[in-house]
Amino acid sequence: MTDIDVLLSESRRFPPPADFTADAQVRDRTLHAAAAADDVAYWADQASTLLWQRPWDTALEWTPPHARWFTGGQLNVSENCLDRHLAAGRGNKAAIVWEGEPGDRRTLTYWELAREVRTFANVLLGLGVRKGDRVGIYLPLIPEAAIAMLACARIGAIHSVVFGGFSPESLRDRMNDAAASVVITADGGYRRGQVVPLKRNTDKALAECPSVRHVVVVQRRSTGPIGDAHVEMVEGRDHWYHELMRKASDVCAPAAMDAEDVLFILYTSGTTGKPKGIVHTTGGYLVGAASSTRMVFDLREDDVFWCTADVGWITGHTYLVYGPLANGATCVMYEGAPDWPERDRFWDLCARHGVTILYTAPTAIRAFMKWGDEHPRRHDLSRLRLLGSVGEPINPEAWMWYHEVIGGGRCPIVDTWWQTETGSIVLSPLPGVTTTKPGSATEPLPGYRAALLDAAAGEIPVGGGLLALTRPWPSMLRTIWGDDARYVQTYFSKWPDRPDLYFPGDGAKRDEDGYFWVLGRVDDVLNVAGHRIGTMEVESALVEHPAVAEAAVVGKAHEVKGQAICAFVTLRDGHTPTSALRDDLRSFVATKIGALARPDDLLFSADLPKTRSGKIMRRLLRDIAEGRALGDTTTLADPSVVAALKDQYADQEG
Ligand code: WT7
Repeated sequence: MTDIDVLLSESRRFPPPADFTADAQVRDRTLHAAAAADDVAYWADQASTLLWQRPWDTALEWTPPHARWFTGGQLNVSENCLDRHLAAGRGNKAAIVWEGEPGDRRTLTYWELAREVRTFANVLLGLGVRKGDRVGIYLPLIPEAAIAMLACARIGAIHSVVFGGFSPESLRDRMNDAAASVVITADGGYRRGQVVPLKRNTDKALAECPSVRHVVVVQRRSTGPIGDAHVEMVEGRDHWYHELMRKASDVCAPAAMDAEDVLFILYTSGTTGKPKGIVHTTGGYLVGAASSTRMVFDLREDDVFWCTADVGWITGHTYLVYGPLANGATCVMYEGAPDWPERDRFWDLCARHGVTILYTAPTAIRAFMKWGDEHPRRHDLSRLRLLGSVGEPINPEAWMWYHEVIGGGRCPIVDTWWQTETGSIVLSPLPGVTTTKPGSATEPLPGYRAALLDAAAGEIPVGGGLLALTRPWPSMLRTIWGDDARYVQTYFSKWPDRPDLYFPGDGAKRDEDGYFWVLGRVDDVLNVAGHRIGTMEVESALVEHPAVAEAAVVGKAHEVKGQAICAFVTLRDGHTPTSALRDDLRSFVATKIGALARPDDLLFSADLPKTRSGKIMRRLLRDIAEGRALGDTTTLADPSVVAALKDQYADQEG
């Protein structure tokens, strides 16, 4: 059976529990219907739940493929996430309940968070940061990450968060692409008991970042000293966060930002070696983040919402910081690994903090399943009332396990499909409304229109095809930083006669009920443990190694990670394929990009299968990596290459 057949035969149905629906934010399909009748009016209604300093003139200006939302309107994201709640009496409510990996804890109320944000906004102003300037954030998952993001938003600076697991070179490239003037980092962070030397990485990166004038270093104080010895402060450039904070005023009015002013850039992998700087703006992004958080997670005043993502990813931006805070929610933030010090860390956190809504990734759920039920069983998870999944397709067995073992059979599951580019959730059940099917992200949220199309833009009502979004939406990316042509090419050129259709790069299937089942990328982008990695990025890293002549990278199905990275490498003359070299090359990629890009398999090959025009046939390499019968090899310049590779692969595996 193919994957599609497996999904097609999934017949379990989970209607929303009646008691859940009775109290839900959304209880029926009125919003879906209203939005279908007039999506722009629907979005204007959603936008009016935010605090605007000046109302907008026009809700949508759509000149495909460029959209502008709420033009003429002015607002400030930090004012919406903070000041508004102080005015509403939430000052003493916990905004962020944080736990570090070593077990250190901090809780920031809305009052405290607002004060820290205003103070740090003044620190940034003091360092010369002005509206529109770019600020890099390279931090562990500590409250200062959210403080730094919100402080940028307060003064209209554009943040570019770089995941702490990325390498110095990745940080360097991102800072240079956006010409950042300030970088905020920390002496270190914790991951699986190890210290991640963020400041040292920053120093390496900044050796080649001429635009960066200042570095602010957070002292990540905790149970153990984080190698202060290793942190060297560059006179005039580097400043300790706590020292600047002590001197700064905590009075800072929120800047009046145009709805279309850029809020942040976030880099993500595409089909070339160079990551794309996805640009999100102020008004539309916040409308998407705030409304989806409220509806999809059915937020209530007393919820404790834990989104397990790092702020280095879009999920952390939208559902750890902006969405929940815009709704005045209490968020749990956890710095470290799920199996540190034990494999029950997540469940210990849920129980101790009384988490009511948990949002995590299928790769984590599959790992938990493998580790065994005894870990969650040891903890009281009865406060949980809603579970979410994001990042990749969730296989029905993992969905069922999540439902039964974590959710006790009572919590609805929202399988949410979206992307860095969409800014917020697009396809998802509404937990009080939608009957769910394990493995399906179900349907577009109100205000969205999705379709399954063939290569000629013909709609496929039932069956498999390419996923498309057929209407603009407020939190959509506006462009790729510095490269609008790539924006048009990547997202709006799949169907040349229809420049209004957004192509996310995913294939999907639609069933008789109209439900969407997203199957995964149809381009050269891998999804490894929920992280997006371009095959070209890994290939570019490999060919920078002096021993490598050529490299081809493909994804291979992996039980826990979803996909694993599999590299085929041909060596330059004079280099011998040894296992030491294999290890060296794998580490080389980790050093160049980050540990998440380290190839799982690496195979030396005298040659790579190519078409007569010289294009590497990745499809055949995938067949080899996954141990399948070889597909059509007739277009190959030299069919013997692939047969030899297949044997060699089988030998190595065996
Ligand atoms: C890609 C986007 C946006 C959250 C984190 C990832 C895949 C994401 C699902 C889902 C099937 C999913 C898609 C998408 N994806 N969520 N619920 N079901 N696939 O963001 O790094 O921008 O990756 O992740 O392939 O295109 P991202």
